[in-house]
Amino acid sequence: MTSPGEASPSRPAAAGPRVWAFGGGKGGVGKSVVACNVAVRMAQLGHRVVLVDGDLGGANLDTLLGCARPPRTLSHFFDRSAASLAEIATATGVDGLTLVAGDGECLGAANPVHAQKQKLIRHIRSLPCDLVVVDLGAGTSFNTLDLYLAADVGVVVTTGEPTSLQNCFAFIKTATLRDVEQRTGVQRRDHDDGSLRRMGNEGADVRAALHRATSLVVNRTSPAEARRVANLLHDLAGRFLGGQVRLAASIADDPAVGRSIRQSQPLCVLEPTARAATDIDALARELWRGPVIDTVARAGVNEEIDHDGQRLHVQTEDLGSPQCAVRTQVFRPDGSVVFTRRTPYVDAFFERLAAVPADRVRFHHVAIVRALRAGRVDPLRKSA
Ligand SMILES: Nc1ncnc2c1ncn2[C@@H]1O[C@H](COP(=O)(O)OP(=O)(O)OP(=O)(O)O)[C@@H](O)[C@H]1O
Ligand SMILES: [Mg+2]
Repeated sequence: MTSPGEASPSRPAAAGPRVWAFGGGKGGVGKSVVACNVAVRMAQLGHRVVLVDGDLGGANLDTLLGCARPPRTLSHFFDRSAASLAEIATATGVDGLTLVAGDGECLGAANPVHAQKQKLIRHIRSLPCDLVVVDLGAGTSFNTLDLYLAADVGVVVTTGEPTSLQNCFAFIKTATLRDVEQRTGVQRRDHDDGSLRRMGNEGADVRAALHRATSLVVNRTSPAEARRVANLLHDLAGRFLGGQVRLAASIADDPAVGRSIRQSQPLCVLEPTARAATDIDALARELWRGPVIDTVARAGVNEEIDHDGQRLHVQTEDLGSPQCAVRTQVFRPDGSVVFTRRTPYVDAFFERLAAVPADRVRFHHVAIVRALRAGRVDPLRKSA
């Protein structure tokens, strides 16, 4: 596992940048503040980051960053006066961070046609950087959902207020339906919760969409309240979609946020030790570490075992979305990996055990450890 200051050895440069999209149904819950400051923090930690203003109808990240309005925006990309997205990425006041600005006043930029949106997604994936952070607008328009679904990590931001939670769950559900539509090519009009559950019988593609994992940020709240909110949404997602909602971070309600906006300077630059800034630092590190693992699951996934006179470390983790799989790895004491088994959520193994999302990691781990102990798997002879 890498720290935020290091390159990821398991991710070759050819794989392109990581893409994190920040969305959520409700307006004003803090998507832009969080996305912008996560991007700033990752740049401060030494990564090359591009922040994309994906709020196609209400772009305002240049104001949050306190930089001059970039001369070229997404409008130029969409009307082809800029040949590539990289061309319109403009320096910000933060080293290592550039901005692809939106254009809230241009109707064309707010409503790209399908081909323009696909081109935008392709260009995001090939930006020459380590990480792309996409800030999405409120609501569940197709454009917003498609940018959200195209990311490696979809982060949903909410506050603890009931209306915000309702919109948040509606966003998760609508994104799931859109994912199902994209995978099957069939438009779904009937999407009451019962029909969503029944869709699980339709095949692996549909189940992969339903089993998607969502990383949740609960903004303007305490860690205890965030935990409660995450558990509630996790239960709902499990019951109606078969998916998971994992708490990536809670962010404090902090007057420093308002001060930073009034002074047009990112919080992580202006007041890096403020409570909300340290919460954002924790979020950035958590997202960079990879899939957000529920602390409950995490407790049971690491184990030392003796095998052929050697002490081996067995680690199981949920790879989350978009991989939608659980992975167990066996390490030698020198850190080298001698065995890997990766099982998709939709595999018959989990279905046979009727594993609910929260049990998958434990079941997978126990099955591999048993196989090791019984000699059915010998990691020291042959890597699997
Ligand atoms: N952690 C926080 N503490 C205090 N105030 C906050 C915090 N997060 C956000 N805010 C306040 O909420 C306001 C709205 O935040 P932001 O613009 O990021 O929301 P949004 O979800 O991006 O809205 P929209 O959907 O309109 O794009 C900010 O202007 C700021 O005043
Ligand atoms: Mg916003």
